[in-house]
Amino acid sequence: MSIISKDITKAVNILTEEDIVAIPTETVYGLAGNIFSEKAIRKIFEVKERPLFNPLIVHIHSIEQLKELVSEFPEKAQQLATIFWPGPLTLILKKNACVPGLVTGGKDTVAVRIPNHPVALRLLKELSFPLAAPSANPFNRISPTSAIHVEDYFKNKLSMILEGGECSSGIESTIIGFENEKPVLYRLGSISIEEINAVIGEVLIQTTSTKTPAAPGMLAKHYAPQTKTFLVDDAEEILKEQKGKRIGVLRFTEKMTSTSCEYIEVLSKTADLKEAASNLYSALHKLDHLNLDIIVVESFPNVGLGKTINDRLERAAT
Ligand code: TXA
Ligand code: MG
Repeated sequence: MSIISKDITKAVNILTEEDIVAIPTETVYGLAGNIFSEKAIRKIFEVKERPLFNPLIVHIHSIEQLKELVSEFPEKAQQLATIFWPGPLTLILKKNACVPGLVTGGKDTVAVRIPNHPVALRLLKELSFPLAAPSANPFNRISPTSAIHVEDYFKNKLSMILEGGECSSGIESTIIGFENEKPVLYRLGSISIEEINAVIGEVLIQTTSTKTPAAPGMLAKHYAPQTKTFLVDDAEEILKEQKGKRIGVLRFTEKMTSTSCEYIEVLSKTADLKEAASNLYSALHKLDHLNLDIIVVESFPNVGLGKTINDRLERAAT
């Protein structure tokens, strides 16, 4: 029997009993548990095979709920929240003592967001506690944008996946924190840098990979298919070079002209970056299931969400 279900009451019961449920959000599916349950939070790390130092994002349904969790809410954070919540923006704020260190990887800050998905919001409103939820993929693998993706990864480890359809944004939230009161962008995401700049002006961008990154999601290898993946500016050349191999191509728009290729995923026929972002992970999942010799991904125009897509492609191809 499938563990995919639309039954929100069942999800409420499982979560209240300190177990975990995969939930839909507008970005990607998450593996959710009560932030105050050590049992549930440990299970999230265990199922995901995620190191304990890598903190989780806390999902809430309102600003009132936020005030119980954080000790400071800087002006610029408020401006961003007003414009982008509910939505794919995660804010890193100074935490209150009630937020367990297990959720925050021992940090004195907590990552929070109000997701913009009707099922997730209904669920959060029915619960008396916030939900910690990392993306519902094993550590370093491609994030899931449908309930089926989650089932493929975890069918023996979960009792329920709450069905919420395909994720509309399809790429993780943009993460913004503050250092000496200055805004810092830690992860490129569904909200472009340009959109952030329009609200709070310049932000420091700190998404480079180091051994102990501020946001460990920024490790160099991440979002990776199992199939060997190459990032190039133009796939034509590599297709000619590697003739005879089973090659899958992922690119922004229109079919290629000169060289033919059997397995091609075009992310947006109309060259719309938002549409391309929403299709990116499902296309990678598809290509990764075809038993190909290699996957070739073409880099995107480096503007708006194109920057976020390039960030994910670079990490997929490492
Ligand atoms: O769109 C999303 O954000 C999805 C959905 C499910 O909400 N969640 C998600 O979670 O992408 P996850 O765990 O895959 O990524 C969370 C990122 C990690 O890179 C983590 O290191 C960072 O947020 N993070 C969490 N708490 C932090 C903190 N206190 N300081 C710095 N980075 C933090
Ligand atoms: Mg993730």
